[in-house]
Amino acid sequence: MEATYDRIGSNYQAARLADSRIFEALQTQLCSAQSVLNIGAGTGSYEPPGRNVVALEPSSVMIAQRPESASPVVQGYAEALPFRDNAFDVAMGVLTLHHWNDWERGLAEAARVAGGSVVLLTWIGFVQHFWLADYFPEIEELDNTRFPSIEDYQMVLGEIEVIEVPIPQDCTDGFMCAYWQRPNAYLDPQVRNSISTFAMMSNQTPALGRLEDDLATGRWHQKYGELLSYTSYDYGYRIIKSSGPIGHRNSR
Ligand SMILES: C[S@@+](CC[C@H](N)C(=O)[O-])C[C@H]1O[C@@H](n2cnc3c(N)ncnc32)[C@H](O)[C@@H]1O
Repeated sequence: MEATYDRIGSNYQAARLADSRIFEALQTQLCSAQSVLNIGAGTGSYEPPGRNVVALEPSSVMIAQRPESASPVVQGYAEALPFRDNAFDVAMGVLTLHHWNDWERGLAEAARVAGGSVVLLTWIGFVQHFWLADYFPEIEELDNTRFPSIEDYQMVLGEIEVIEVPIPQDCTDGFMCAYWQRPNAYLDPQVRNSISTFAMMSNQTPALGRLEDDLATGRWHQKYGELLSYTSYDYGYRIIKSSGPIGHRNSR
């Protein structure tokens, strides 16, 4: 099976640096866990130091970009984790679940190997309007179908905590909403190439032309300039945390 990130991940490490504020938010939720499985670990961002971390990643292209200091990595898929029950204190996953072929099975696997203790960073939909969707309406269509809802997480994990993760104005991890206050960034093909939703869109040229024009004429600032007064903004990124053991997980 070809891993998507073998096709789109070659520039990942340059464009998607772990953001220190998001890193801290995740660290806090990992609490005292000593053994951690990082599912969909990519190039090693957000792997917590000082703990026993094992990374799980399907893409050879992503694995090749992991620094030498990164945790040991096992090549594989979330849907079939090659680990025994309760092998880890916690299973974590950062912006990965929307790429899994079967997120329900993958989540159940994450819970199985970590006694129900799972910490995920994900996106639950635009809780506030994101101006980029005025140019690329497909963003909402595509991402709303790819990302599970809070109810979906509850169905598999049972009781969960949902923790808001506001995106800093200078976020260093170039995911979809990272550049909410730096609109020129979306004109850069390197930036778009590092965001999987853009890889799914066909003809981006007309929308890019409109954005470029609005930035040049000052129309963007007239419409959205108010955003420049914020230091962070909530666009629907959330940490989903289940503490296990799994009480009322539905059977498939
Ligand atoms: C947006 S990247 C996030 C990488 C890393 N967690 C980070 O925050 O930088 C998504 C990752 O999920 C991985 N992935 C895709 N399908 C997967 C699956 N079925 N099981 C585990 N990981 C998967 C991709 O190969 C990619 O490395």
